[in-house]
Amino acid sequence: MRKPLPYLLLIVCIMAGTVTLGLAAQKMGAKEMNLPGGSRGDVPFPHFNHQTKLGDCNVCHGLFPQTKGSIEKLKADGKLKSKQVMNRHCIRCHKAEKKAGNASGPTTCAQCHVRS
Ligand code: HEC
Ligand code: HEC
Ligand code: HEC
Repeated sequence: MRKPLPYLLLIVCIMAGTVTLGLAAQKMGAKEMNLPGGSRGDVPFPHFNHQTKLGDCNVCHGLFPQTKGSIEKLKADGKLKSKQVMNRHCIRCHKAEKKAGNASGPTTCAQCHVRS
């Protein structure tokens, strides 16, 4: 009888390779971003931090696509309300994490917005 082990190893290697290539092919976007914050000034946003910490892209990208400027575009088209991302995503999550006693992000205006 032939030993199945080498074939199993080969299959495992192919599967691992596919997963690695899949991850590398996924566009991760900029590590650090500067989001337009209207009259209150820009919002520096550590994108990579959130990707690694939260894991699930759709926490945010369920609401707006993975393209630069998509929030502004949706706001201009009336598909996102002004401050909707800020209030319902950024601040809501930071408050919830804080309340749960976890590491969290800023919740006050001046901690997020930088006046130029
Ligand atoms: C906490 C919120 C959040 C999470 C989680 C998140 N993103 Fe983003 N992402 C953003 C924001 C905000 C933008 C900028 C949108 C804009 O410019 O209007 C963005 C933009 C992008 C862009 C386009 C910008 C560029 O530099 O090309 C890509 C690509 C992207 N994200 C990929 C991902 C992937 C992949 C994941 C999951 C591994 C992810 N994002 C998770 C908030 C998030
Ligand atoms: C966690 C970070 C964060 C905090 C805290 C925060 N903002 Fe924002 N703000 C953003 C982001 C991101 C945007 C752009 C997306 C949006 O409009 O939802 C924004 C957008 C805005 C805009 C522009 C809206 C528009 O459409 O022109 C104003 C004005 C604003 N914020 C004021 C404030 C004020 C006032 C406070 C304090 C009460 C505050 N922000 C707190 C992140 C934050
Ligand atoms: C679903 C939860 C979640 C959402 C949505 C989210 N954040 Fe955060 N944010 C976190 C957590 C958790 C941390 C703490 C990360 C850490 O300390 O490792 C954090 C940290 C931060 C920090 C501080 C990073 C540092 O180095 O101290 C900033 C700035 C920030 N977030 C901005 C934003 C902005 C702007 C948005 C909206 C576009 C946003 N976050 C959306 C969970 C979230």
